Amino acid sequence: MSDHVGVRHLVVTRHALVRQVLADPVTYRPDNALDAVTPMPVTALRVLAGHRFRLPPTLANNSGASHPEIRAIVAAALHPELVGAQRPWLTALVRDRVARLGTRLDTGAPVDLYADLAADLPLLTLARLVELPDAPVGAVKEFARAALELFWAPLDTDRQLALAAEVGRFHRVLRDFAATGGGLAGELRAAGHPPDVVVGALFFLLVAGQETTSQFLTLLLHRLAGEPAVRAGLRTGDVAVADVVEEGLRLEPPIVTWRRVAATDSTLGGTAVPAGSSLVLWLARAGRDPAVVETPDEFRPGQRGSRRHLSFGAGAHRCVGDVLARMEAAVVVAEAAPLLDGVTVVRPPWCPDNLTFRMPDAFVIRGTGLMRS
Ligand code: HEM
Repeated sequence: MSDHVGVRHLVVTRHALVRQVLADPVTYRPDNALDAVTPMPVTALRVLAGHRFRLPPTLANNSGASHPEIRAIVAAALHPELVGAQRPWLTALVRDRVARLGTRLDTGAPVDLYADLAADLPLLTLARLVELPDAPVGAVKEFARAALELFWAPLDTDRQLALAAEVGRFHRVLRDFAATGGGLAGELRAAGHPPDVVVGALFFLLVAGQETTSQFLTLLLHRLAGEPAVRAGLRTGDVAVADVVEEGLRLEPPIVTWRRVAATDSTLGGTAVPAGSSLVLWLARAGRDPAVVETPDEFRPGQRGSRRHLSFGAGAHRCVGDVLARMEAAVVVAEAAPLLDGVTVVRPPWCPDNLTFRMPDAFVIRGTGLMRS
């Protein structure tokens, strides 16, 4: 396919082929993972340079020798035991919010499950696991969404300039923190990684580690609003929360595509792939491959193939935050699904044009105005 600026990409849709590409980082390198899909004009590059913005390969786009060590330091901070220890705190927070939102719904008032519930939960949780710069939640969210738009959306020059200014400003905050901050930043410095690498790792973590999950929570709640039988199963215990989360990841992944670049000439599923080709791996489509899932388009928790989705990628760069994202989603499903009983969807999430991220903007529901039992 040609994209909006005429660049050609090979789009990979079949589960087996997407997996094959992800499992072979030598033939198909991750180096282009963070390349801007709309090339930056000199004016926008100047804005970024004015903030001394640099993004060296650290995690997702790093095929170099430093990747395993950087990844291991990040993975240690997100160890399943540390993640599990946050569960009671998160459950109490979500339960409290859900109670308040339930009261509001009972009065017939609208509730935005993105802004009022999902948006900040992943960032608040991440901040308990990883020492982050002391920036207001709103500022981090704005920066992260600006970065997703700047690197993955079709854009005109005016918008690129505005986004470059926003991303550049926050990069400065990260640079200051990377020089002095403790926790992960301190460990990366102690392991001998230069300041740019520390900034790059924090940059990616602040985007990947929270924005993806708040998008997923919103999309999953929206999906569940239209799946009364699944909610009934959750209520009676016939449907497991973990199965709902997996089916949600398969059918409503917040990251719909991920890229690789061919390092050498190869053949993929009978198609010649010349060196230098950009491959767009359609993760969302691979999750609906009938060769893998019994009823690909239906939300049936626990069905055969449900867990074999590639929504977290695969291989050497597979998501290191999967346990955290799953824990957050499980808590939200268990606590918030009952809110969806008997409500009207006032405003489904709207997702802008973006190669990779869904970026839902809101999900507004309204109660009946009657007290719930
Ligand atoms: C539902 C939420 C999430 C989804 C769908 C998701 C998905 C992905 C995908 C598709 C990749 C690329 C994998 C590949 O190239 O094979 C990735 C990489 C990554 N993700 Fe996630 N992610 C989520 C949440 C998180 C969270 C909560 C964190 C951390 C707090 C995180 C941290 C990372 C990191 C550090 C990488 C790069 C790993 C590497 O290159 O070694 N992600 N994620």
